[in-house]
Amino acid sequence: MARIFSGIKPSGQLQVGNYLGAMRNWVREQNRDALYCVVDLHALTEDADPAEVRHGSLEVAVGLLAVGLDPEVCTIFVQSHVPEHTRLSWLLECVVTYGELSRMTQFKDKSKRGDVVRGGLLTYPVLMAADIFLYDTEVVPVGDDQRQHMELARLLAERFNNRFGETFVVPEAMVPTYAARVMDLQDPTRKMSKSVLSPQGTVDMFDDADVIARKVRRAVTDTDGEVRWDRDAKPGVANLLEILAALGDEDPKSVAARYETYGQLKDDVATALIETLTPIKARRDELLADPATVRTLLARGAERAREMASVTYARAASAIGLLEP
Ligand code: TYM
Repeated sequence: MARIFSGIKPSGQLQVGNYLGAMRNWVREQNRDALYCVVDLHALTEDADPAEVRHGSLEVAVGLLAVGLDPEVCTIFVQSHVPEHTRLSWLLECVVTYGELSRMTQFKDKSKRGDVVRGGLLTYPVLMAADIFLYDTEVVPVGDDQRQHMELARLLAERFNNRFGETFVVPEAMVPTYAARVMDLQDPTRKMSKSVLSPQGTVDMFDDADVIARKVRRAVTDTDGEVRWDRDAKPGVANLLEILAALGDEDPKSVAARYETYGQLKDDVATALIETLTPIKARRDELLADPATVRTLLARGAERAREMASVTYARAASAIGLLEP
C-alpha cells in the first residue's frame, strides 16, 4: 500500500481551492496508509498573529475531520507536535543550495510583494520536503501550485541518497486533472487563495449559502457569451466549469455542453457548492463546540506520527554523519 502524506497551512480561512485541489482527494485516499498534517510551522513564514496561528491550527484540524477524514483510518496531526520535522529540515538545508531555493516561484512572488522577507520563506520548501520524507511517503496529493516544491523535494531525496546512501523514498505528486488550480472569481488569471486578499473572489468553505451564491453570481466571465471550456481564452468560464465538473466527477467539456448561458452555469455552480459545503459546515460547527475531543485526537495522531518520524530521522542523521547519542 502506497504511503500518502500531505499538509495544509493554518493561515487564513479554508477556501474552495483547498477543498477541490487537495482535501477532497485526501478523503478518497485516506484508506491507503495516509497521514495528513496541519503544518503550523509553515504558517509562521508570514506575519502571523500568535492567537490566529493557534486558533487556526484547531480550525484546520476541525476542517479536516469535517470533510470526512476519519482519525480511526488515517493519521491527523499538527506538525510542531513532532519535533523531527524541524530536525530533519536542518539536515536538508545543508543539502539544498541557495540558488535552488531562490528560484522557487512562490518565494519570488511572495518576496516581490514588498513586505519583509523572512528567512523561513526562503527555506520553506525544505521543511516541506522534510515533512514528506519523514514518513517514507510515496504519494503526495496536492494542488497544482505545489508542483515546483514537489520537484525540489524529489531532487533533494535523490541527491541525499546519492551522496549518503539510500535513505529517503523519492515521492511523487498526485495532482487532480480538473480544479487543480481553482482561480479567483474576480480575477480568473490568479489562483484562489486567502479571502483577505480578495474577499469577493474567494469562496470560503464555511461561507453562508447566500454569500456563496452572491460570490458565484458576480464571478467575472467574458463578453462572448458562449459556454465553452477554454482555459486561455475564457479563464472565468473555464474556472466555473472546472469547479462544477470536479464537484460532480465529470469532465468540464461535457459539463459545458449542457449550458446555453453563463447565468444558468453560475446558478448550478452555486447550487452544487452549497450542497457540498452545507453538511461540511454543520459537522464543523459541531466539532468546534467540543475542542477537547479534537485535541485528544490530535495528540493521538502526533504520537503515531512520531513513532514513524523518529525512525526516519535517526536513519538520516546517521547517514549524514551525526554521532549517535
Ligand atoms: P496550502 O496550505 O497553501 O494549501 C493546501 C492544499 O490546497 C491546495 N490549494 C489549491 N488547490 C487548487 N486550487 C487552489 N486555488 C488552491 N489553493 C490551495 C494546495 O495545492 C495544497 O495542496 N506547502 C503547502 C503545505 C505543505 C505540504 C507539505 C503539502 C507543507 N508541507 C508536505 C504537501 C506535503 C501549502 O502551502 O499548502
